[in-house]
Amino acid sequence: MHEDRIRLPALMDRIMTAADAARLFRSGMTVGMSGFTRAGDAKALPLALVERARSEPLALTLITGASLGSDSDGLMANAGVVARRMPFQSDAALRRKINSGEVMFIDQHLSETAEQLRGGGLKPVDIAVIEAVAITRQGDAAGIVPTMSVGNSASFAEQAAQVIIEINLSAPLALEGLHDIYLPARRPGREPIPLTSTGQRIGASTIHIDPARIAAIVITDSPDSPSNVLPPDAETQAIAGHIIAFLEAAVAAGRMGPELLPLQAGIGTIANAVLHGLTGSSFRNLSMYSEVLQDSAIELLDSGQLAMASASSITLSAAMHERFLRDIERYRDRIVLRPQEISNHPELVKRLGVIALNTALEFDIYGNVNSTHVGGTHMMNGIGGSGDFARNGHLSFFVSKSVAKDGAISSVVPMTPHVDHTEHDVDVLVTEWGLADLRGLAPRERAPLIIERCAHPDYRPQLRAYLEEALLRGGQTPHVLEKAYSWHARYREQGSMII
Ligand code: COA
Repeated sequence: MHEDRIRLPALMDRIMTAADAARLFRSGMTVGMSGFTRAGDAKALPLALVERARSEPLALTLITGASLGSDSDGLMANAGVVARRMPFQSDAALRRKINSGEVMFIDQHLSETAEQLRGGGLKPVDIAVIEAVAITRQGDAAGIVPTMSVGNSASFAEQAAQVIIEINLSAPLALEGLHDIYLPARRPGREPIPLTSTGQRIGASTIHIDPARIAAIVITDSPDSPSNVLPPDAETQAIAGHIIAFLEAAVAAGRMGPELLPLQAGIGTIANAVLHGLTGSSFRNLSMYSEVLQDSAIELLDSGQLAMASASSITLSAAMHERFLRDIERYRDRIVLRPQEISNHPELVKRLGVIALNTALEFDIYGNVNSTHVGGTHMMNGIGGSGDFARNGHLSFFVSKSVAKDGAISSVVPMTPHVDHTEHDVDVLVTEWGLADLRGLAPRERAPLIIERCAHPDYRPQLRAYLEEALLRGGQTPHVLEKAYSWHARYREQGSMII
């Protein structure tokens, strides 16, 4: 069964069990694993490492593309295998370990990790673990065909002393050819990245590697974990409606054509629902230059509105995953999967003029956005690629429901106690109540607009009162500093931000 997937006969003797491959690891090593928003993650080695840690301590620095599936992050965290983790995660058990201080988490722009590895700012990767559809022959080199994500795998493979490849038999051979592997050269002397349109291919279809560094091949057959986003609801539909009306007005005013500019949509329920809202809209011949394709992207490809989608991973619900793999020939020419360094590259996001749609946990009356720290202190998932796109995109939207936890938390607050995206990187804020276009507005003009358009009506009087008091104190960005975080303190002490 795996013979047609390992096309260098000399590699056949590297096939071993995951338990045997796990013996290559030593405590203190830096490990680079494939996997990006639950797609294309190694399935067997995480479990084998957990098993090994039962008999001897094994504490690793784990770098991935983004989050892993199959509860791997949580299982490894609970077993003490993960001492240090970057650049993104979304697992409840790992989150607990991060917030208790047991795991050191480095929350990083997703375009940055490969660059820091290349420049020596991070310790080199000792072992890479990469899930693959197949290993092809590329002259004297081997070619790794990634599965449903590319993430940082090409950089890990380039750098790691040893590479373990998990051949996943459940990933169809038809995935071959979907990927475009291009890595920027080392500095100095780096050339511009030669990509000028979303669907352009600028690299190879496989990750080239010297076969001598392939230390082990493990055969698996488990599919990716399905995405856990919730279906659209009335509020996310309202958010989508505001964004569509805004973009339609931009088209009517002649600022964009009906194909808009390439779209990026963040992870999670809200971003997926917003993109879903574009199905049936008047836009045609759309393109995406994003990091993740969720169900909504496949729906738009199916509706014919999305002409081309470029990303680093495809993360789907179980039903959509099955449909996608069954009909992959229909999508093949319209999807390109790239290293996350390229899908999120500031140079390319700026050149293409990406319209960035990302989600905030909360934002403040001047437009600063917190996407990561609950209550200002506790890590949720991480910044992911939102900063790569928000700072460099043509237009940067941040969306959120106006309240969380049944209204006990307002997503519009006087001052965000953690800032991922400063007011300088945020163009438009949207909740189910409305949209605030901040471009060209000074902080004193932004605040009333954000309060009246975006805040929940229950919280508007409190926000108006705060702003009034702040304005008496003066300043470019007026605040009542001793009260700026009082809303968060009130929620912690009394269970609600409502006065
Ligand atoms: N304070 C505390 N909790 C809040 C909150 C706030 N201001 N706003 C939302 N939440 C909670 C929700 O109640 C929900 O909790 P639950 O899981 O217990 O139900 C959780 O946060 C997720 O919120 P939800 O409304 O379901 O949104 P989501 O699934 O779209 O996720 C983010 C929102 C911000 C967590 C998510 O988009 C994220 O991690 N973003 C950062 C990374 C990123 O943008 N990557 C994309 C780049 S391409």
